[in-house]
Amino acid sequence: MILKLKPIPSLEITPRDVYLRRREFLGGALAAAVAGVLPWGAAAAAAAPLAFSKSVFSTDEPPTPKADATSYNNFYEFGTRKTDASNYAGALKTSPWSITIDGLVSKPATYTLEDILKPVSLEERIYRLRCVEGWSMAVPWIGFPLSALLSRVEPLGSAKFVAFETVVRPAEMRGQRGWFQTLDWPYREGLRLDEAMHPLAILAVGLYGETLPNQNGAPVRLVVPWKYGFKSIKSVVRISLVEKQPVTSWNMLDRDEYGFYSNVNPEVDHPRWSQKTERRIGDGSGLFARRHPTLPFNGYGEQVANLYAGMDLMTYF
Ligand code: MTE
Repeated sequence: MILKLKPIPSLEITPRDVYLRRREFLGGALAAAVAGVLPWGAAAAAAAPLAFSKSVFSTDEPPTPKADATSYNNFYEFGTRKTDASNYAGALKTSPWSITIDGLVSKPATYTLEDILKPVSLEERIYRLRCVEGWSMAVPWIGFPLSALLSRVEPLGSAKFVAFETVVRPAEMRGQRGWFQTLDWPYREGLRLDEAMHPLAILAVGLYGETLPNQNGAPVRLVVPWKYGFKSIKSVVRISLVEKQPVTSWNMLDRDEYGFYSNVNPEVDHPRWSQKTERRIGDGSGLFARRHPTLPFNGYGEQVANLYAGMDLMTYF
């Protein structure tokens, strides 16, 4: 079974006047953000509404309740418990924020978040996030294609991969200080350039109609819906275009458990458990949790399988 991408019924497209009013609001919100007031400077609780249109890329799955998607999180910079991010990520100062894009590009640059958002239109895309731990959620992300940002810096022909890094701020991120260190910081992720340029790969700045809460990766995080959730790196500050496959946090920690590609694949078991089924967050728990069959490429096979034509996905898992 393939997850259907929903055609957009015209009613779902934000009416132009509402959209324009929202853009005015966003303009105001951005100006306020520049001034360090709202919305990215505020703590997670003060999420602000965002202007966006509906995207053709949404799945037809009903979204997971917002309360679940914003309280059951993985963000190891704040601790390893699912509740650590919502409890402690408010300490991260997300304004001002900038992303440095460097490496094999014609126009390396450091853009503020406002610079990044100015030329793009935000869209809402309901994408499923399938975690390697066996749970999944459907989240209405608000973002824009990563390719729009990468094209601005003009990748050189020699660029083959894209490396991402999360901010390192031990003073604000409790998981980055103390004796118990889970990962080597910064948190790192990587994609092949063609994966990064695929229209399904987005940089998200919001969810459920509002700016991203800190626990979900404010102010800007990657979302790659056909890969396990850990590829969707949060609070990104550096993007480097490189020639060789970059190191990634989970692959560095244990290369047998977390491959570089990390495509959702029910046929490739995690060494400690099967990946054949998944549990939807908000759909019961413990022994009574309903399990659903996991779809290859998280249901996006029709769109992305061609990126891996000829590759042995058992070896390149
Ligand atoms: N990004 C950073 N910087 N640090 C992390 O620990 N965890 C990853 C990913 N991005 C993580 C991260 C994992 S394991 C998952 S499953 C998703 O974020 C969870 O995203 P969510 O909390 O928004 O559901």
